[in-house]
Amino acid sequence: MVLFRRVAYLIVSAALISGSHLSLAESQNSGKAAFLEDCAVCHGSDAKGRGAFTSMLRVPPPDLTTLSRLNGGEFPAAQVRRTLAGINMPGAHGTGEMPIWGRRWREDGHGSAGANARVITVMAYLRAVQEE
Ligand code: HEC
Repeated sequence: MVLFRRVAYLIVSAALISGSHLSLAESQNSGKAAFLEDCAVCHGSDAKGRGAFTSMLRVPPPDLTTLSRLNGGEFPAAQVRRTLAGINMPGAHGTGEMPIWGRRWREDGHGSAGANARVITVMAYLRAVQEE
């Protein structure tokens, strides 16, 4: 399953890098797979912040389906991107409990274009799960 996801992910990244355009639905699907793989343990598989690791964290992982609502109805894309890159962690200066995904994915063998593609697809998924 993990291997399958990695292969699917590589195909998606290759498509993004080669400039062919994925439909929104396609990037949301691969973003969902990436979310379930890397984010759901803390943020919950429904992104509402009730993942399995929650009890082990000092700061509860936030509900990620209310980002737009808390931002006046607009998805805070730039803020989410910076959070994933580890540039502006929320909270005072961040608790350091939220991994820095951009870097991890780069070092994971995804390369910087691959890491970037993964950030984009995860963001497409998060955008799709925002509450009204
Ligand atoms: C190890 C647990 C953990 C994992 C895994 C994790 N997060 Fe987080 N996340 C947190 C915590 C805790 C916070 C609260 C910020 C802090 O550290 O103070 C947070 C904060 C965030 C925020 C900021 C929300 C806001 O209010 O601005 C976003 C966006 C986010 N996470 C997205 C993700 C995504 C996308 C993934 C997967 C790629 C992910 N997180 C994986 C624990 C985690």
